[in-house]
Amino acid sequence: MQKRSLVSISDYNKEEYLEILRVAAEFERNPDRDILAGKVAGVLFFEPSTRTRLSFETAVQRLGGSTIGFADASSSSVTKGETLKDTIKIVNSYVDLIIMRHPLEGSARYASEMASVPVINAGDGANQHPSQTLLDLYSIQKTQGTLENLKIFMIGDLKYGRTVHSLLMAMSYFNPTFYFISPDALQIPVEYKIFLHSRGIRFYEYPEFIDIIREADIIYMTRVQKERFSDSVEYEKNKNAYVLTNAILENTKSSVRVLHPLPRVNEIDVDVDNNPKAYYFTQALNGMYVRQAIIAKALNLTDAL
Ligand code: CP
Repeated sequence: MQKRSLVSISDYNKEEYLEILRVAAEFERNPDRDILAGKVAGVLFFEPSTRTRLSFETAVQRLGGSTIGFADASSSSVTKGETLKDTIKIVNSYVDLIIMRHPLEGSARYASEMASVPVINAGDGANQHPSQTLLDLYSIQKTQGTLENLKIFMIGDLKYGRTVHSLLMAMSYFNPTFYFISPDALQIPVEYKIFLHSRGIRFYEYPEFIDIIREADIIYMTRVQKERFSDSVEYEKNKNAYVLTNAILENTKSSVRVLHPLPRVNEIDVDVDNNPKAYYFTQALNGMYVRQAIIAKALNLTDAL
């Protein structure tokens, strides 16, 4: 069987994104299929998670497979000083697939090089979160009917927000225009601006909400991530930078949808939850179907779907 890890969103090409969206739609129609009978996934979370871990675990179980692993590295032998390399080599010998979240950027690539089974990156530090990106693409396509030529507003922590980094790379295949709204200290890193320039993708940067938001197709809110700041004063200064309210959404297009990878702290007012433009809870549900598709692809099981 061909090993097919997903470490960075650039491990897939445009056709493979579209393949994942097609297969995810199949799973949305019928999520309970026995294609993983007899298979075991190692689910290793060295960082907290609700959606990613539980949707991956549910995805495996709905496909007839089972999971082993940990939700908290403090219950593993990492606390005794075991290295990531040894942890991966051991788990690799028990399972058919590894799904891993780790705080260190590059850890997922390293794990994929140590393992003989496919590794799916469930988030590595501020670097990449490719399964989130694919569920974001799925949510964008479902709500807009297309991925092409959209105006996408990304708001909040664009420096440490790994979901933002993966999403802009994936969307670059579909001729988007990006509007980045962030405090100075949390601007999109320069390497992503260079990437967008190299692809001829238009982008604009603003320090605050702007009127042009009325033209948005997608408003992608992000949390200011306390856990990524080494300086707590800097976090306190930026944590309440933007709060999306129904008043801000009032003059936006009826077709606009608000996405957020979640968890939310206070960057989306809870009143927005009842606004038909809010899509973040359905977006999280979409994650399960998309992760079923990613797992099926990692194990070369998509042909029958
Ligand atoms: N979106 C996301 O990664 O959520 P969790 O941290 O809860 O997995």
